[in-house]
Amino acid sequence: MSKPVVFEGVSKSFEHRGRTVQALTDVSLRIEPGDIYAIVGYSGAGKSTLLRTVNALERPTSGSVFVGEQEMSSLRGKELLAARQRIGMVFQQFNLLKSRTVYKNIAYPLRLAGLGESETIDRVEELLDFVGLSDKALQYPSQLSGGQKQRVGIARALATRPDVLISDEATSALDPETTLEVLGLLKRVNEEYGVTVLLVTHEMDAVREIADKVAVMQNGRVIEEGSAYRVFSDPQTETAQKFVASVLRHRPDERSLYAIRRIHTGRLVEVRVGDRETNDPFLSRIAREHDVDFNIVYGGVSESKDNLFGRLTVELLGKDQDVDAAIASLQTITDVEEVAH
Ligand SMILES: Nc1ncnc2c1ncn2[C@@H]1O[C@H](COP(=O)(O)OP(=O)(O)O)[C@@H](O)[C@H]1O
Ligand SMILES: [Mg+2]
Repeated sequence: MSKPVVFEGVSKSFEHRGRTVQALTDVSLRIEPGDIYAIVGYSGAGKSTLLRTVNALERPTSGSVFVGEQEMSSLRGKELLAARQRIGMVFQQFNLLKSRTVYKNIAYPLRLAGLGESETIDRVEELLDFVGLSDKALQYPSQLSGGQKQRVGIARALATRPDVLISDEATSALDPETTLEVLGLLKRVNEEYGVTVLLVTHEMDAVREIADKVAVMQNGRVIEEGSAYRVFSDPQTETAQKFVASVLRHRPDERSLYAIRRIHTGRLVEVRVGDRETNDPFLSRIAREHDVDFNIVYGGVSESKDNLFGRLTVELLGKDQDVDAAIASLQTITDVEEVAH
């Protein structure tokens, strides 16, 4: 059964070489059961620390972390071990036992949980089948590719049938194609086992591929949060805008703008497109109504969770007051921003 994960006013500081490092400041988030929730942000933002409070590898200095009904930082000893078995963790560096076979790596948490021999065999075989590695059971980690190692890591994390899976940069050491394969697997874990997935990554493509919701962190705080579609199509903060721009390339950067300006000397506007539930051909209609011409000089449309969104950079050509009127008309329909000369 999947469970919610709730952070309530979580702060965490470390004492490091006589200094206090504030890793988390007053983080409050609710991850709904069955969601895939991504946490993004630059290095040092506090992502790993936040994730590690979920299975109490870190304890908050103040605030609480709930997995279902359970407040994780209040647990000790056997209770804590039992709660941790309900939370699977996947790591960037795989953390496999090098001297043990794939089979034994996956069986390891089951042995710790005291499962009998024949049940262990059944469960490991089921997991190997799920991650597509049935033929690798007797191989050692060193004989596997990075993607295969991570699939073993995921199988191991799922062994004790967790309610929640936490994944810290699970695909950061992988090439783009393997990344997609592993993300696809995490998505299947979520869909087929109903596991709540909390995912830390700095790869926005990963988020766009699979996440329902996303939180952007900076300096230990959550600075932006919402549906992946909302954060992608309409990022509010500068950090989120930078993240989104780096993967989507819907808007020209300085260099592209320089190249555009060499050819297009008219007024440029950025127009938000793609997410309007209408088939109004508003660009050509408004151009005609106001007697201006337009050139599409840059842009792109992407998809996240079956939603389309994008931006076009459009050059408007005509008399200045006609262009003004056309921009005003566009602004009644969608987001429009004039690009400064
Ligand atoms: N065990 C620790 N001791 C001291 N400082 C730490 C420790 N863990 C994390 N930090 C500090 O906390 C901040 C957040 O780190 P982290 O959660 O690893 O960020 P991220 O995963 O987003 O890169 C950083 O400034 C980091 O140096
Ligand atoms: Mg980290």
